Amino acid sequence: MSESGTAGTRGRFFVTTPIYYLNGQPHIGHAYTSIAADVLARWKRLSGHDVFFLTGTDEHGQKVEQAAVAAGLSPQEFTDRLAGDFRSMAERIGISFDDFIRTTEERHKRSCAALWEKLAAGGHIYLGHYEGWYAVRDEAFYGPDEIEDRNGQKVAIASGAPVEWTREPSYFFRLSDWTDRLLAFYEANPDFMAPASTRREVVSFVRAGLQDLSISRTSFKWGVPVPGDEAHVMYVWLDALTNYITAAGYPDTGADRWGFWPADVHMVGKEITRFHCVYWPAFLMAAGLEPPKRVYANGWLTIEGQKMSKSLGNGLDPLLLAEEFGLDPLRYYLLREVPFGNDGDFSRRAVVGRLNSELANDLGNLAQRSLSLIQRNCEGRLPALTAPTEADRELLGPLEALPAAVDEAISRQAFGEALERIWTVVRLGNSWIDAQKPWSLKKTDPVRMEAVLRSLHTLLRGLATILQPFMPGTMAAMLDQLAVGEGARGLSDLATPLADGTALPPPAPLFRKIDEAA
Ligand code: MSP
Repeated sequence: MSESGTAGTRGRFFVTTPIYYLNGQPHIGHAYTSIAADVLARWKRLSGHDVFFLTGTDEHGQKVEQAAVAAGLSPQEFTDRLAGDFRSMAERIGISFDDFIRTTEERHKRSCAALWEKLAAGGHIYLGHYEGWYAVRDEAFYGPDEIEDRNGQKVAIASGAPVEWTREPSYFFRLSDWTDRLLAFYEANPDFMAPASTRREVVSFVRAGLQDLSISRTSFKWGVPVPGDEAHVMYVWLDALTNYITAAGYPDTGADRWGFWPADVHMVGKEITRFHCVYWPAFLMAAGLEPPKRVYANGWLTIEGQKMSKSLGNGLDPLLLAEEFGLDPLRYYLLREVPFGNDGDFSRRAVVGRLNSELANDLGNLAQRSLSLIQRNCEGRLPALTAPTEADRELLGPLEALPAAVDEAISRQAFGEALERIWTVVRLGNSWIDAQKPWSLKKTDPVRMEAVLRSLHTLLRGLATILQPFMPGTMAAMLDQLAVGEGARGLSDLATPLADGTALPPPAPLFRKIDEAA
């Protein structure tokens, strides 16, 4: 990967997406979390980390089994087909994953069995009977105070998913032992969960006291068998969460890859925080393993103001949207429009608005204007670097401060803020070029004209480098136009100026505007 020229010098970084259920086609909601995680992974590579970026598919459980039956296929055939769709969607929306895990893989079954045995050996598991409410859609158990009656149907209050009364033999994890230890862990690790709303919700759930958790099922077969008792399959969430350590090599904790554990950030949607912030650290601590460093929960997207749902058929296909608007404008929009962590809406009008004004006008025109002037007035060669004047410093000072400011925002997963900080400098570039008027300097002060154009080139190179994680394809094209070699696109390369007189290819528009009325 071109951005990883300096990989490894700043330490390891492990970031994950949720693994997606294979019960339908991938939609824009899945793409949203994955794109955010991808920006984080690419940013860390760009700034010199050795990154391990994991995504994949969650293939077991009753919900997937039911979807396979409805499609007239065996669960294995069904998941083989759909896993390919998720993987190719991830590739086509630019998800730069290092590993794609499927929970039906042997390495994962081995890891689940090893974790189970470790928990059992530590006395954290016992055999009993589960009796209570289960929602297949959420693959979650609910207490009597967490359900209600809606139109004669019992549903989970939190998600609206129908629940069924279930009674079967089951193994339990002694989650009730962990109430105080989890609260102490949250207290000692204030960055463990974000945003603040997630933290509040999880803490109050745990404070209310935890009950032992049913971690096996006997009423269906599509899962990882419980070691030593094959009448049971593991509860799909125990299986699914384990994917994160499987990919890091568990149970081979001596192998090099294990050096990535604990994960730096699990990126998840807000509806699955209980699993990631309560069950997962409890399982890990019980097994003597370190919990992840951070779980970040994004909000939910609606489509033109409406909840995305199968029955409405509005679960938008990210590939069609990428065709319509361009992949990079779509990625930009998703992270720019809604403060990350909040719920937000996907609206075509808003995508077009941002594409036309912020991408095509603010950034695209700045590049086009500057590069055309270099083509026309400097014979397409990069003007020589000279000592910066005060005016140059007004432009280049804020640019130099930008990588640290963007890093700070991205380390909080404040992707919209990072883009806002970058756009402050883009807008500064536009007002600066208008004030410097390089087009009118050709006759009056050609030396100053060259210095102004060189500063603009420095600005554009800095912006394109910093923006690569957000819009990888378009920024690669922009760096090509700026004649920045593929091996010189990391943040640390910004300290090394391009050679004076470097030939620049003729510029071409970076963004395609869309007619707002269409
Ligand atoms: N398989 C579990 C996760 C296991 S992780 C160990 C699961 N899968 S899922 O297919 O339902 O995907 C859920 C994730 O997709 C959410 O957590 C969220 O990240 C993303 N989203 C799905 N719909 C979404 C929206 N409408 N809006 C935003 N994100 C959404 O849960």
